[in-house]
Amino acid sequence: MIEFQIKTSRNPMREAEHQADPDAANFGEVFTDSMITLRWDEKRGWHDGRLEEYQDIALPPAALVFHYGQEIFEGMKAYRQRDGSIALFRPECNAARFNASARRLAMPELPVETFVRAVELLVKQDRRWVPGGDDNSLYLRPFMIATQPTLEFTLPARSYLFCVIASPAPAYFSTETGPSALSVWLSEEYTRAAPGGTGAAKAGGNYAGAFLGQREAMDQGCDQVVWLDAAEHTWVEEMSGMNLCFVRQSRDGGAPTLMTPALTGTLLPGVTRDSLLTLARRLGLGCEEGRISAEQWREQCEAGLITEVFACGTAAVIVPVGRARGVSGGWTIGDGRPGPVTMRLRAELLGIQHGRIPDESRWLHHVC
Ligand code: COI
Repeated sequence: MIEFQIKTSRNPMREAEHQADPDAANFGEVFTDSMITLRWDEKRGWHDGRLEEYQDIALPPAALVFHYGQEIFEGMKAYRQRDGSIALFRPECNAARFNASARRLAMPELPVETFVRAVELLVKQDRRWVPGGDDNSLYLRPFMIATQPTLEFTLPARSYLFCVIASPAPAYFSTETGPSALSVWLSEEYTRAAPGGTGAAKAGGNYAGAFLGQREAMDQGCDQVVWLDAAEHTWVEEMSGMNLCFVRQSRDGGAPTLMTPALTGTLLPGVTRDSLLTLARRLGLGCEEGRISAEQWREQCEAGLITEVFACGTAAVIVPVGRARGVSGGWTIGDGRPGPVTMRLRAELLGIQHGRIPDESRWLHHVC
């Protein structure tokens, strides 16, 4: 059993400052009082676990992460429940994905129970930082970096640091009246991930490679970039930090189908994506993990077959997509505004996460 020593205390001044104006900071700019650290080396395995004060990390400039980018992370949230208690959402899924990312990046795996306990300890310690309110939560960012000081590039690092930090999160893309629809840019020049690469891992390098596409999207007047497959530049994969879902009407007047690009190995297996497939089935929608080209996306919107598109992820929850554009022009999805299926799924998911709707799948993990 890996132990964590407790070396932190509450800082009521900082809490009070944050609670006085919780919306003062953008997503991921304010951090709670504490953090988790845990080290690994070849001799001792995982050791020196601590719950300590949030602070800078001292590393030698030669630490391998700075040169070869050996880093992975997770995104998860703690939710204030109606009775004031706090719960995590499917934390064991994040732990399993963290280990899948670790395997792909040749890093040591962390026992699932240690990952979950580390997150629980931090949330319990900093529980006063978990905001109330419909779309608010405490965003948790577990990550692991290679710390061995070496420029040698034959084998992965022989020492690592695992950390968890936490940041009170207002709704990522929402306005006071709910989420506004995004406009997206289909990147035809750059790609995010290729078969056999690291696209399915939550590795920092995937996100670093996405910045240029995101900047191109913004230069084109769009909010977010959509990545196409690397081989044919045809098939829609995902956005930089979110999966995509398409609501397709049935031709015979039956229930619509929720279609999301299949996990081909080049896109991230989102926990939100997976949860929505279950919820959609429960709400009587058809579900399909398939594929769609940019051209089919446009044609099916123009034919009134695809009526809604949304992006989903832990940070973003569910965000409607109202318009798509690529080098050969753009099109509107439905009437360009958040659609009923999108908003129903969003209400259902947030309702479960905040304990307002029964948790039939037992996804909530109660912490304190
Ligand atoms: C998350 O949704 O948790 C992510 O890691 C995406 C990130 C771009 C904020």
